[in-house]
Amino acid sequence: MSDSELDTPDAGDRPLNRRGFLGAAALAAGSLVAAAGGGAASVYLAVPALKGGGEAAGWTLVREIAATAGDGPGRATIDVVSQSGWSKTTTRQAVFIERRPDGTVAAYSARCPHQGCLVDWRSEVKEFFCVCHSSTWTRDGSLALGPAKRGLDPLEARLTASGDVEVKYAMFALDTAERVEVG
Ligand code: FES
Repeated sequence: MSDSELDTPDAGDRPLNRRGFLGAAALAAGSLVAAAGGGAASVYLAVPALKGGGEAAGWTLVREIAATAGDGPGRATIDVVSQSGWSKTTTRQAVFIERRPDGTVAAYSARCPHQGCLVDWRSEVKEFFCVCHSSTWTRDGSLALGPAKRGLDPLEARLTASGDVEVKYAMFALDTAERVEVG
């Protein structure tokens, strides 16, 4: 599966301008670099977990494979497997993972809650930023500047006994102030 299969913004009724398109393309390219072990952010490798069945339903193991300078959150790409009857569907999703100094871990969806572009982390100013329409969020995911109407969508995250990170991916409705889970 390629990064082009990452959930992308709804075609929607607000087409991206040229800057937004180029930015989105740059982010997609950045994801590929990160997946290959390069890039400015911490890099994580995830293995699929089953969503919808089993004891560990919904949890996806995220394993760090590289880290670079800076203590900001790292973007990870995870394969989320959903099962309905005999049918399994895998979608590739992007998340941010942050290991806090106190030993806890936080995770956020990297899907912009405005129209679904990939959000980036800007370590030089320590904020999340969406190139599509310039929404920004503080490090804790709180909305700093719209047009997005809410903070980044937090995801359940936990540490395993061996110190690995697991996240429970969820998807939320776009362009709403209220966070409404849709899958
Ligand atoms: S998609 Fe519009 S600000 Fe992110």
